[in-house]
Amino acid sequence: MQPAQLLAMLAAGEPLSGAGLAEQAGVTRAAIWKQVEVLRARGVPIEARGAAGYRLPWPLQMLDAQQIRTALPASLARQLGALEVHWELDSTSSELQRRGLSAKDLGVLLAETQSAGRGRRGRTWLSPPGLNLYLSCLKRFESGFAALSGLSLAIGVIVLRALESLGIRGAGLKWPNDLLAGADAHPATGKLGGILVELSGEYQGPCAAIIGIGLNLRLTPALHAQAGQPACDLATLAGGTPPDRNRVAAALIAALVEGLQQFERDGFAAFVTEYARHDLLRGQLLQLSGALGAFDGIGAGVDARGALQVRLADGSLRQVDSADVTVRRA
Ligand code: BTN
Repeated sequence: MQPAQLLAMLAAGEPLSGAGLAEQAGVTRAAIWKQVEVLRARGVPIEARGAAGYRLPWPLQMLDAQQIRTALPASLARQLGALEVHWELDSTSSELQRRGLSAKDLGVLLAETQSAGRGRRGRTWLSPPGLNLYLSCLKRFESGFAALSGLSLAIGVIVLRALESLGIRGAGLKWPNDLLAGADAHPATGKLGGILVELSGEYQGPCAAIIGIGLNLRLTPALHAQAGQPACDLATLAGGTPPDRNRVAAALIAALVEGLQQFERDGFAAFVTEYARHDLLRGQLLQLSGALGAFDGIGAGVDARGALQVRLADGSLRQVDSADVTVRRA
């Protein structure tokens, strides 16, 4: 028996006894117990309810490529290079990288869980099964790297378009592309998701971007504790229950297919106004640090290349291409 099979059996959120699960799966109760421990060790909060048996604290939907495809507008589904759902990968982005030239343009990989999920700046992206979304998409561009400036900011806008299409409000962007709760005066705060864009190819010729997106749908107390920073999930923004995971995946993929083609045609210019609408740093007192040293200023939006603009104490405007940014509380 595999952990995926047990998670699927528990997905309805109803309690099921060890004996009943064993009978259904045609395995011993010891085999069930072993897989319960495997899933728990990976961060799935399976509860034991005495004689009633095992249960999840809420129902969940297993990812299903067919359901995702069906939820996509037909014209967009046709443009998708591939759509694969895996139970486990080390990292959806690493898998696309390994496929290299054989990976199809606008191909999308999802994994229920990642054993070595990667965040920006070499950080780990915790990826327990069944709770959140881990997705990577490959996009090829004929232009060189220079035409891709602002791509990672545009992806932030694309993810917010997907959330809006699902009726979810309260998410905004922290430059360059952190997805945070706390917009639209929503009381919840914290990181909702992350975006990792990795480029390869010729500096002046054809190149490819692997776009990795991690989106929190359901965080457990253990995940909050391990996150190392305040975190939030779609369940909180949606008032307790997140939208169906396959629907969220479809909304993300639809927004990516459309948005990446728009970026290919018009570049970041097509996203600047929307970025400004979601910019959580505008007007905030910021502390910046990086290769240029450390300094303070007021967030003044992003420019047409996607650089952060910071108003300094002497009134001048400074463009920042790369830095760690912290919002200073007065
Ligand atoms: C960040 O640090 O904010 C970026 C996190 C990106 C995580 C996603 S999950 C899907 C894809 N696969 C990975 O290993 N990382 C990205």
